[in-house]
Amino acid sequence: MKIFTKDNKISSLVATNSNLIPVINRFGILLGFKEKTIEEICLEKNVNTDFFLAIVNTYTNENYFPEDELLSFSPLLLIDYLKTTHRYYNQYVLPKIERLLAAVMQTCAENCSSLKMISSFYQKFKTELHIHLAQEDEKVFPYIIDLYHNRVLTEGKSIRKYEDEHTSVEEKLSDLKNLVIKYLEPTYDPSAMVEFLNTLFQFEKDLFDHARIEDLILIKQVIRIEEELKTNAAR
Ligand SMILES: [Fe+2]
Ligand SMILES: [Fe+2]
Repeated sequence: MKIFTKDNKISSLVATNSNLIPVINRFGILLGFKEKTIEEICLEKNVNTDFFLAIVNTYTNENYFPEDELLSFSPLLLIDYLKTTHRYYNQYVLPKIERLLAAVMQTCAENCSSLKMISSFYQKFKTELHIHLAQEDEKVFPYIIDLYHNRVLTEGKSIRKYEDEHTSVEEKLSDLKNLVIKYLEPTYDPSAMVEFLNTLFQFEKDLFDHARIEDLILIKQVIRIEEELKTNAAR
């Protein structure tokens, strides 16, 4: 497992895993890194280096989990990052998937019922994803921001409750992918389908890593704040 540190060149990060390009773009860090290290570019862009490393390493290694001392950055930073990611999904990724799916459908002349079924399954997935992202933006993140600023526990509210309800929309996306792979009638243009499927695969990976960041980093940080407040209240 390759763990990136602050002294690594940022170009090596992207060369190892090109999927990280949109991830680091969300930090306002764009290509053209020259010989700069991760620490140098983070300082230049005013990005917390521990936070940056926690994110890129989580995206790169499925089994990576940042150690406690690397989790001391503010959860507000993470919330900003997650919100930017939600916007990226809503404004860029979903419209792109839809465009590609429409292009595939245009190539289907006859026997298109399985393709139509896939399209309606996609619509259901999209609705569920919208609800999921809106719930985080409108309920979960405001709860955390309030907790962080005011340091007061609210009766009946806790992040663990949200953790239990953290529905896995990414599972729906895997179902969609499997539906395409296993049951689609071959009555479409294969090149258009490859483009659509590749985008779906990429989004599945991105969404999976996004959920891991929420479950493994954000929720852990919030549980720590809640536990601290409970201990203080019991004193
Ligand atoms: Fe999210
Ligand atoms: Fe989520």
